[in-house]
Amino acid sequence: MFSRRSAWVTEASPLALAIADARRRGAPLLDLTIANPSAVGLRHPPELYAALGDPDDAAYEPLAFGLPAAREAVANHYRGRGVALDVASICLSASTSEAYAHLLALLADPGDALLVPSPSYPLLRYLADLADLELVPYRLAFDGAWHVDLGDLRAQLDATPRARAIVAIAPNNPTGNYLSDHEIAALDELAAARRLALIVDEVFHEFPVDDRPHRGPLEGPRGALTFTLGGLSKLAALPQLKLAWTIASGPPALVHPALERLEVIADTFLSVGTPVQRALPRLLAAAPAIQATIRRRLRANLATLARAVEGTAITLLPVEGGWTALLRLPLLADLDDRGWAHHLLESADLICQPGYLYDLDGAYLALSLLTPPEALAVGIDRLVAAVERVLASGP
Ligand SMILES: Cc1ncc(COP(=O)(O)O)c(C=O)c1O
Repeated sequence: MFSRRSAWVTEASPLALAIADARRRGAPLLDLTIANPSAVGLRHPPELYAALGDPDDAAYEPLAFGLPAAREAVANHYRGRGVALDVASICLSASTSEAYAHLLALLADPGDALLVPSPSYPLLRYLADLADLELVPYRLAFDGAWHVDLGDLRAQLDATPRARAIVAIAPNNPTGNYLSDHEIAALDELAAARRLALIVDEVFHEFPVDDRPHRGPLEGPRGALTFTLGGLSKLAALPQLKLAWTIASGPPALVHPALERLEVIADTFLSVGTPVQRALPRLLAAAPAIQATIRRRLRANLATLARAVEGTAITLLPVEGGWTALLRLPLLADLDDRGWAHHLLESADLICQPGYLYDLDGAYLALSLLTPPEALAVGIDRLVAAVERVLASGP
């Protein structure tokens, strides 16, 4: 009856069942994993939503890449980053997830392979499955900071003749590392030399935790066909409005046919609503205010985490940007990441994400840095106390 590609394990995980059970019992749970910006007490000014109520929005113009004024607003946003874009290279979609799906349809045939960073965002597996692609992870290495392991990427590419594209995420979720200039150049060179496309997901670009500017592939001439992804869900903390974009760059001889084909794919779905497209110039103009609020929260939460784990057996991994922090807990015989997540739920009423969800081995937990600061402060104190109780009780 059903496709092989949709034969996913859909049962709730033991941790999800335990959380549901604790909720039913009325346990006073503190959820440290909420990354939905509309559910963590962040408020946009009400005028922002007024931009969506224009009566002229009733007119429908089915344009595959989106309304010209909306695409111009995206170009204007990048001008603010010092990047001059041709509006013709910008394609709107309802989300970056959808943008990935369209790019995979553009670039790969069933059985081809997609190179993705590991650890990274779990959605990529499903996107690859839906396009009948093999997902080939390449390593991000940690030596006090996270880096693309270029040696591993080369080895994976050598072993994957059907590779069609390399995905890079900057800053990556959950490791929070941007791409260095050297990594951008190396990825570009590798992709160009092997005639692969590069997909660079920059959805968290606007959220560095320091004030260092970070560049992407659009800031400079590139040899590979490159698609840069961004969207309102993170950049303006508006996931409910469903608008994202793909920017094609690289050699014109590749960009032009890519855009011609992408236009057919986008035209097949026409998935972006008119009101959000018409409001986009005002939504993007308002975005810096919420970005500044979020960046303050990210920094405050990181400082709280750093203070709380100092001198304990828990390590806070360094974060350059994005909305996630990783904690490394002691790896004990019966306590790996899943074990700790269960233990913290049962002993401290805490919800934390085990690192295996992102392909991390060991005893890592992922926490959302969007968590309201008061809740995070209480939660991390409970977490540290629970870990210390376990360590004090001995083997
Ligand atoms: C790295 C990364 N890319 C893309 C997305 C999806 O964004 P969108 O809401 O635009 O589909 C997420 C969502 O968490 C993400 O973490």
